[in-house]
Amino acid sequence: MLRNKQQYAQITAIGGYLPTTRRTNADLERLSDTSDEWIMKRTGIKERRILEDGLATSDMAVEAIKELCATYQKDITTIDALLVATSSPDMPMPSTANIICDKLDLTQVWAFDMNAACSGFLYALDMGAALVETGRYKNVVVVGADKISSYVDTTDRSTNILFGDGAGAVWLEPSKETGVLDALLLSDGKGIEYLNIKGGGSRYPYAMENWDSTHRYLQQDGKVVFKNAVTAMSQACQSLLDQNGLTVEDVNWLVAHQANKRIIDAVGKELGIEEEKALNNITYSGNTIAATIPLCIWEYKNQLKKGDLLLLTAFGAGFSWGASLLQWNI
Ligand code: COA
Repeated sequence: MLRNKQQYAQITAIGGYLPTTRRTNADLERLSDTSDEWIMKRTGIKERRILEDGLATSDMAVEAIKELCATYQKDITTIDALLVATSSPDMPMPSTANIICDKLDLTQVWAFDMNAACSGFLYALDMGAALVETGRYKNVVVVGADKISSYVDTTDRSTNILFGDGAGAVWLEPSKETGVLDALLLSDGKGIEYLNIKGGGSRYPYAMENWDSTHRYLQQDGKVVFKNAVTAMSQACQSLLDQNGLTVEDVNWLVAHQANKRIIDAVGKELGIEEEKALNNITYSGNTIAATIPLCIWEYKNQLKKGDLLLLTAFGAGFSWGASLLQWNI
């Protein structure tokens, strides 16, 4: 049985933004010892978008929110809560949500950031939905945005092939009928050493003595992350379906975090979902961290039908991971 809620949070609008500058596989061939053929075969990625120097995560989020408002005729001044999932805030403080509010001239908004790495959007969506379900907030905007290129060593072929910049946003409103149905979100610190950006926080501040310059970059053990991602996302999806009395047959679309095309395929296979039901936009965007899920839905929005059941799943640093179920209603 789907969880019975007195009030649901429903997505009533979606927006996105991708920077215009492309970093192609040919660019990466010049920067590191790799090839277009290897990257396509092992990741399914052809290019990623890179935000120019001088601009930051908030600039992309602002564009995504403006695009959403223009497309769905939403009045920006009615936003009463803004949650921003990001691992690449403009600065340690204030929050990127505050900076976005300032850029949008919003002064009366409950706004803050959440960091759950690549799972951030699912965490923020669950939190945003909970705010709406309480009845205290009526127009909640949830953003997933990352300028992760600021942390990628462009000469490191173990990471430069995967990551790109982008932002996606959804608008949540109350509904008596349907919307965000349920979520299962988890975390386990066993993954800290396998995927991280060490520098710039309070443990390894930039000003520390004996600063290790590799700490400024995203580091990962790709193989360990890959295996854990497939198992964790598949299990979270299956558990969420089970606890709601559903099967993969009920799911219209699987929207998995866009980390690597082979990971998306493996999760679909593990769950027994037909390939054409698994949305993917990784080829031309890469892994945009907290932005992948809203950006992917945004790109496919014209193919989604009212009433479709979407199963979302993500995995990221921490490790943090989970799944969400929602009924599309736009
Ligand atoms: N270009 C060319 N060759 C490369 C390469 C690159 N960019 N990276 C690795 N190789 C080589 C390796 O040296 C190795 O060569 P060898 O067999 O001669 O030793 C071979 O290719 C295989 O390397 P491996 O590290 O096993 O590749 P992989 O298939 O695991 O792919 C990743 C590497 C990073 C693409 C993959 O592990 C991955 O996507 N992991 C998940 C990362 C992720 O999702 N992170 C974010 C989570 S939110």
